[in-house]
Amino acid sequence: MGFPIETIRTAFPSLAIADDGTPRRYLDNPAGTQVPQRVADAAARCLIESNANLGGFFRTSIAAEAVTERARDAMRDMLGAASTREIVVGPSMTSLTFRIARALARDFLPGEEIVVTRMDHDANVAPWLTLAEERRLTVRWLPFDERTWRIEPAALDAVLTDRTRLVALNYASNLTGSINDVATLAARAKAAGALTYVDAVQFAPHGFVDVTALGCDFLACSSYKFFGPHLGIVWGREELLEELRAYKVRPSTNDLPWRFELGTPQIELFAALEASVEHLAWIGELLGEGGSRRERIRRGFAGSIAHEATLALELIDGLRAIPGVRIVGIDDPGRVAHRVPTVSFVHDTIAPDTIAEALARENIFVWSGHNYALEIVRQLGIPEERGVVRIGAAHYNTHDEIAATLAALRRILAE
Ligand SMILES: Cc1ncc(COP(=O)(O)O)c(C=O)c1O
Repeated sequence: MGFPIETIRTAFPSLAIADDGTPRRYLDNPAGTQVPQRVADAAARCLIESNANLGGFFRTSIAAEAVTERARDAMRDMLGAASTREIVVGPSMTSLTFRIARALARDFLPGEEIVVTRMDHDANVAPWLTLAEERRLTVRWLPFDERTWRIEPAALDAVLTDRTRLVALNYASNLTGSINDVATLAARAKAAGALTYVDAVQFAPHGFVDVTALGCDFLACSSYKFFGPHLGIVWGREELLEELRAYKVRPSTNDLPWRFELGTPQIELFAALEASVEHLAWIGELLGEGGSRRERIRRGFAGSIAHEATLALELIDGLRAIPGVRIVGIDDPGRVAHRVPTVSFVHDTIAPDTIAEALARENIFVWSGHNYALEIVRQLGIPEERGVVRIGAAHYNTHDEIAATLAALRRILAE
């Protein structure tokens, strides 16, 4: 069966919005996706029907607690976690990563080492650099390979020592789009006695995550990148979370995962979070019958990966044909399975901001700059203040949208 793109698009009301007759073309997805109606409805319904703080004896409070439990059930199913005790939810991946780093730091000793990459978004770099500064740890920098665009296991081996406590790396880059072989890298880190903290923010909208198969210790994502609300989620191995002492107020419970969730939870966003996972499972339902929610999610991703790969190929093909354009990332059509459909490029003379602004005038939404992947532009020698133009597809984008974007680019860059 083909990918039911039209049915999927009708689930997203914002895709039908036009401004003065010009449709909106959302290719800003690596920075945040649109949401299906069910996600907006779930938040609204929660605010109306179960708007209370947790822990009360009365109906709305009990209902609000159930909302948080269902959201955690959904994330357990999406990530392949063993239990909801491993699912920590918070305002953003960045804030949760600082939080976990701070809790881990209590146990790290001066002179011990951490590994951070030149491929990561700063949200998986700065928390560890801060920790290193405070605990006087040694930082080992891990470059990405400029031919494969990923972290090669041999490069990780070269920086691991018997003092390495933690390796922070990404699943997929938010600038180049390339995907790391996390299972192999996590196994190498583990063999050296180090923990692995994986940033899956860019991967999670585009692929099926299995924390058990990956063998990592922590994995972070953000639901506003996978058609949901503005929340961050960290999965942590239960026995590790159990050992960690959280920075928290005294009266709040020390139970998992609540220990790491500060203050009153964003209950309406938890409701929306469950709905965003249901959306992913619904795509699986469109593509075949039956199966647990996790199996439906897997089936949905099998369909969207194939659809997104065709969009990425068209984008890469089109960009390669424009004089003066250089793709920053995998541009070999034979290696498209090694990237998500986030395609960045630079032009010989025209600045990324100028290009993004010209596209915005045509209601085509893309990002320019380093997109917080500071270390990537530094490693490549791309001026930080310029960065790249980043075009990122999601499963609701169409071939027509890619064609229109390429046509606009050809015109803008020729002028
Ligand atoms: C790869 C990656 N990691 C982390 C983040 C930060 O996520 P959050 O906004 O939830 O803190 C982003 C946001 O763009 C990202 O792309």
